Amino acid sequence: MLNESRIAAAIDDAVLWRHHLHERPELLYEVEETAAFVAERLRSFGCDTVETEIGRTGVVATIRGRRGTSERRIALRADMDALPIKEETGLPYASQRPGAMHACGHDGHTAMLLGAARTLAETRDFDGTVILVFQPAEEGGAGARAMIEDGLVTRFRPDAFYGLHNIPGIALGTFAVRPGPIMAATDEFRVAITGRGGHAAIPHRTADPILAGAALVQGLQQIVSRNTDPLASLVVSVTQFHAGFAHNVIPDDAIVSGTVRSLSDETRTAAEARIRAIAAGIALAHDCALEVEYQRNYPVTVNDPTAATFCGDIAAGLVGEEAIDRAVDPLMGGEDFSYMLEQRPGAFAFIGNGPSANLHHALYDFDDRAIPYGIAYWVALTEKALSPA
Ligand code: NI
Repeated sequence: MLNESRIAAAIDDAVLWRHHLHERPELLYEVEETAAFVAERLRSFGCDTVETEIGRTGVVATIRGRRGTSERRIALRADMDALPIKEETGLPYASQRPGAMHACGHDGHTAMLLGAARTLAETRDFDGTVILVFQPAEEGGAGARAMIEDGLVTRFRPDAFYGLHNIPGIALGTFAVRPGPIMAATDEFRVAITGRGGHAAIPHRTADPILAGAALVQGLQQIVSRNTDPLASLVVSVTQFHAGFAHNVIPDDAIVSGTVRSLSDETRTAAEARIRAIAAGIALAHDCALEVEYQRNYPVTVNDPTAATFCGDIAAGLVGEEAIDRAVDPLMGGEDFSYMLEQRPGAFAFIGNGPSANLHHALYDFDDRAIPYGIAYWVALTEKALSPA
């Protein structure tokens, strides 16, 4: 499959497209140039439909197979946005935009899906419709949700969603996937503590928000250690504690905030409830008011077991069973492809990026040698999911 001449031309172009995109990183929803580049390529390939401005700057194309009249429809998704990081790779195609960088490999994801689109539009060796989804704002902006709210599911009617992300530390030419949760829900909390400040030497006339905050930081540690099944996964990290301004003044208030990562809705909901309960107890014990804001960000990314097996089989067909990890550990980072998997079954898989710097690092680069594997994966997945009856 990897050596097939039909994807060979797409591979060379995809490398050039990636370098082009890498030089011109754009953030969140501001991916206008990237989206225009993607739409122009998709039109030049002869896709049946190409629509822009879905979810502000998302692009959706469709290609109908020539092998029958099936109504089956699958969606393949890539993300287009970069990160607010100053690139330090020194590469010839390094970012030309100060303070922006493709440090998560979304340039590679976009190039691979474009390469697949080109091949699929030429060969059309399947029965049904493939929907190519290029989304903005994966890095914290919930671009996937914006596209869904703008009709991605109701207008394009996919039966399933598939996603692919490169992972440093997984060997080039290999894939990993797992049934069930593969990426975490990423929530944040902020507790505003209001006490009664005063002279530090007259503490009995105050209600000390710093002491209450210290008790809160300690109390929150029991959520993982004493309230959560040891076999479940949960992270509760306090990452900010702000209070005070002078050595001899007890302040009026304090702020404690942090992040919660979980791999199931049950654990997530229980963690939020415990944060609120612990804060309420500390308010009582310390005679302070504790106001909890809990913000649910990306949900858990949950792979459908059948789809995960299917994706593992597709990858194994390309690189052999020994190059597939079908039980990879979930990552506690978040991924807004989760919103698509809440709508339809499907699977999010990992493609090896070799021993590169980590994602979101100033020295990271997507490895061009992964591109043939990604294109071949998308093409094989489409032809198998939409194989003629
Ligand atoms: Ni990413």
